[in-house]
Amino acid sequence: MSLAFPLHRNESPLPDGDRETILAAPGFGQYFTDHMTSASWTAEAGWHDGKVTALAPITLHPAAAVLHYAQEIFEGLKAFRHADGSIWLFRPDLNARRFAHSARRLALPVLDEEAFIASVEALLRADESWVPSHDSGMSLYLRPFMYGAEAFLGVRPAAQVSYHVIASPAASYFSGGGSGVTLWVSSTYTRAAEGGTGRAKCGGNYAASLAAQVEAHENGCHQVLYLSEPGRGYLEESGTMNLFLVTDERELITPGLGTILDGVTRASVLELAAEHDLKAVERQVGIDELRERCASGSICEMFAAGTAAVITPILGIKGEGFEQVVGGGEPGGSTLAIRDHIVGIQRGRLADSHRWLRRVV
Ligand code: COI
Repeated sequence: MSLAFPLHRNESPLPDGDRETILAAPGFGQYFTDHMTSASWTAEAGWHDGKVTALAPITLHPAAAVLHYAQEIFEGLKAFRHADGSIWLFRPDLNARRFAHSARRLALPVLDEEAFIASVEALLRADESWVPSHDSGMSLYLRPFMYGAEAFLGVRPAAQVSYHVIASPAASYFSGGGSGVTLWVSSTYTRAAEGGTGRAKCGGNYAASLAAQVEAHENGCHQVLYLSEPGRGYLEESGTMNLFLVTDERELITPGLGTILDGVTRASVLELAAEHDLKAVERQVGIDELRERCASGSICEMFAAGTAAVITPILGIKGEGFEQVVGGGEPGGSTLAIRDHIVGIQRGRLADSHRWLRRVV
């Protein structure tokens, strides 16, 4: 039988007025709802003790595996309120599948897809009042995560593991980057290598990205554009988003999977391409090709895709000794049309012809 997540309601939820104040301007990842989901795993008992309780700090032994060897994975997915008040998740089955993939890579126990979705839905039902209104342009971001909790300093998979889901109302991911971002091509850092953890959604990948992100900010860019080698080679992803290029021959090019994250928004964009008169192409793109074709205009649009960032236009790239405007420095027409299409489906304004939404409330 799959794991259940009974609700033990928070007896002191945030007062309605305070919640409404937060929902008026939540930013991204700053405020958290009244509840959290939890479950535990041990080698002997398997998954057990699923529950939804009041949001509270987690107690960890100082020797817990996650604190020393970063045995941790996470997911990010969003819930949307529609005009009739109903609440929907966008493609949670893909997050469940990717979470299982990440668990295998980090030698964590797999939480089956049914239990993953049930854990997210249980939290969403408990905190449904935290889902922003249908016309706010915002959503409730759900963050499932799992980590090695066993107190043991030897290097081996933890025999005690914890799982939680927390939720946070979300506006735009990039403050001030709503109309588009610039990316820094790092000559110092890469994100992943063949056989590494690049395709897993694990905290360690993001820890390793922070120095590159600081470098990007110091150079006036919003985010990093990772290459397969420092300063040269092929486009990978941006660390929090997958990359897309639109050509003047109506190709929609994105780096193939391998060492990059298998993004849910990435998959959705690829499936929508034909409806935008674009031919989806997954292939390697060298940084030299990108620079030359942006300069000549044959790559006329560039955008990034991710759950948090949705579809974000890329207006320029910059690296050691070069700076290249993309698409005249304006968001492209296909970029905006694909964004409207995905957001329209998520918010119930457009028909869900691909059956990507799952109703929860
Ligand atoms: C997401 O888009 O859900 C991500 O995981 C990006 C995040 C690290 C903010």
